[in-house]
Amino acid sequence: MNSGKQTKKSLWMSLRDNWPLVIISVTILLVILTEIITAEDKSSPKNSSGSSMTDSLWNPPSLYYDEVAGEERNLIAYGQELIAHTSIYLGPKGSVAQISNGMNCQNCHLNAGRKNWGNNYSAVFSTYPKFRERSGAIETIYKRVSDCFERSLNGSAPDSNGKEYSAIYAYIKWVGKNVQKGEKPKGAGIEKLPFLERAADPEKGKQVFIAQCQSCHGTDGGGQLSPNGTSYDYPPLWGEHSYNNGAGLFRISNFAGYIKSNMPFNLATHDNPKLTIEEAWDVAAFVNSQPRPSKDLSKDWPDISKKPFDHPFGPYTDGFSENQHKFGPYKPIIAKK
Ligand code: HEC
Ligand code: HEC
Repeated sequence: MNSGKQTKKSLWMSLRDNWPLVIISVTILLVILTEIITAEDKSSPKNSSGSSMTDSLWNPPSLYYDEVAGEERNLIAYGQELIAHTSIYLGPKGSVAQISNGMNCQNCHLNAGRKNWGNNYSAVFSTYPKFRERSGAIETIYKRVSDCFERSLNGSAPDSNGKEYSAIYAYIKWVGKNVQKGEKPKGAGIEKLPFLERAADPEKGKQVFIAQCQSCHGTDGGGQLSPNGTSYDYPPLWGEHSYNNGAGLFRISNFAGYIKSNMPFNLATHDNPKLTIEEAWDVAAFVNSQPRPSKDLSKDWPDISKKPFDHPFGPYTDGFSENQHKFGPYKPIIAKK
């Protein structure tokens, strides 16, 4: 008891003796607190006008913290699972149906479509239905999801009334819930890279592939199946089990932009990429020169003048060759548009 009293007394005395230190400590604490409060203010999605989110990076929701409950939560969670581990349910050995090639949606929509610059789903619910030139029609979310099943997963569309599509829809709706109608947050989709002055070079790209990609994706680009054979540890970049020539990633600009921010996996980030802009275009040209499944694309781009600059199949209305649309240089094509 006595010693307790003494510590109290000596603490008070030492505070009194060291008052300059006390004042400094309190000041530092206050500064830190103000920093924290203003930093939180800056990162919050609303800007000064209180509505637009397009200036700040998207802040995806997380099921860990979300209060959504009951049946709805179960459906969203199943949707997230289907995006992340598509092949377990819908791949060649899928437990629910066998309608896709063994890849996962997440292979190209990283972190189940929740990663900034990782081809995320932030702006899907806010911008669909919308008109798209590829089909020449107004597309619903169902149509867009089916497109990735038929092209990126080289398979067939899920039943629009089935539980699997309902779950994917519920997940996409939930994941985009903090994005206002019509808006597209920073970090949505795939980064647009600057164009090279020259054509992208598959030969140079091959060297990039050997040095930076084949350790995971395989010397033959065919990826690496997991031991149980139901899904890929490293997904295929080309070959019979990869996406087909109608897929969005087959557009060289999409491939180059996607890998610049995200590959090699877990090493590259948008702000700390491992590939130069040239390496990204060149390795994209190399991968796009390899064989892959083909799809009947005769119904795509009903208005051929609307084909994107890097659509690799003619005919075109702009007078540039198929090869230049395939590898560039793109600046002359863009200038003529
Ligand atoms: C091989 C890569 C790849 C895989 C696998 C893939 N996608 Fe995609 N997906 C893309 C690319 C690339 C785009 C964007 C195309 C563009 O911008 O033109 C896209 C676009 C989308 C969009 C529209 C995004 C937007 O903001 O407009 C949706 C929705 C979508 N994918 C869903 C899925 C679903 C669901 C799966 C799994 C069944 C899937 N994707 C699998 C590459 C892929
Ligand atoms: C450390 C291993 C690793 C390296 C190295 C790596 N990747 Fe990947 N890559 C992955 C993994 C894993 C995924 C799937 C990510 C997921 O599903 O979350 C992936 C996905 C992809 C995809 C989308 C899916 C597909 O199969 O088309 C592309 C494209 C890609 N990588 C290209 C590259 C390129 C190009 C390089 C070299 C510059 C590279 N990667 C280097 C591991 C790697």
